[in-house]
Amino acid sequence: MVAIGVSAARQLVERPSGMIATVSSASPAPVVRAFGPGRVNLVGEHTDYNDGLCLPFAIDRGVTVELRPGRDEAFSVRAEDLAEEDAFAVADPAPAEGWRAFARGTVAELQRDGHTLRGGELRFTGDVPLGAGLSSSAALEVALALALLAHAGLPEPGRHDLARACSRVENDWVGARTGLLDQLAALYGREGHALRLDMRTLAVEPVPLELGDWRLVTVDSGVAHAHAGSGYNQRREEAARAAAALGVASLRDAQAAAAARLPDPLGRRARHVLEESARVEEAVAALRAVDLPTLGALLDASHASLRDLYEVSVDEVEAMVARLKAAGAAGARIMGGGFGGSVLALFPPGVRPPTSVGAIDVRPGPAARLLAP
Ligand code: GLA
Repeated sequence: MVAIGVSAARQLVERPSGMIATVSSASPAPVVRAFGPGRVNLVGEHTDYNDGLCLPFAIDRGVTVELRPGRDEAFSVRAEDLAEEDAFAVADPAPAEGWRAFARGTVAELQRDGHTLRGGELRFTGDVPLGAGLSSSAALEVALALALLAHAGLPEPGRHDLARACSRVENDWVGARTGLLDQLAALYGREGHALRLDMRTLAVEPVPLELGDWRLVTVDSGVAHAHAGSGYNQRREEAARAAAALGVASLRDAQAAAAARLPDPLGRRARHVLEESARVEEAVAALRAVDLPTLGALLDASHASLRDLYEVSVDEVEAMVARLKAAGAAGARIMGGGFGGSVLALFPPGVRPPTSVGAIDVRPGPAARLLAP
């Protein structure tokens, strides 16, 4: 990202007489920089919007947002990696497509929560691949939120409130009915820890993740997924129908025997949610026991369920999972919303992913934060 210097801030003030005077502020508003991490989810997929359990961690790659003073009543935005720009009024951002929906939506949703923002010049860049299932979108949202609040001189609200505001950006501005998994992971990540998330109570419990000489890697399947356009919203809708048919508020409360009597595919969707949450508890126990072979087996079981019961895998992902398993992975699975994106794999000491697949090593890093100027 280009380093930006700060020149003395000057404001034009209109006097009652109609005369315009130029006033220098005592101390220029500083440039604000914020980082939002991407995330990996160890296990607990498509459970978040079913009030179930998840086990993600924030990674050390993500999105960096820089915000410098400009016009107080407007934002200009530049997506450095795409070399594209946007501009909109602070007071009333209009809906837009693609990445522009994120900046506009984050500004609008923070203001909806009562935070009075100040315009400026935003730019962002990232090192988490877009559309690869590592949640570049939540990384961008949380980094934007932290930068916008700091630039306006506002204290940070509770991180659960921030997660909800960022999630509304996805739901209402981008059109993806995603849950809170990605935002909570980005906002609560802790170095060396995964996070056991209970999506009913929204309790966040850090669990040590000691990899030793084992490696967790993500590999891009080559199929970009886009939640809004994929079957993600359809899966959400099926889960809601399954819960309604069972007479429960969410699939978290479903009884396995009753779920098994649902018509296809609703029965399989419900079974996945119940078994996947149970796998989170088993994975937490495995992490506490530093039992990585068991974690690998849970990754495999999660993948089989996402492929056969929740049906969110695609041929390219299947081919990549098979390749990684053949190379000696202790476990490999599709990660995130599905229909493409990344595969997560766990490799024992001394066993390597094939060099040609472009594996990225991932380990738990810290949460979203403001960066030193
Ligand atoms: C995406 C969504 C999350 C979650 C996962 C599937 O990452 O953003 O809310 O539903 O898919 O577990």
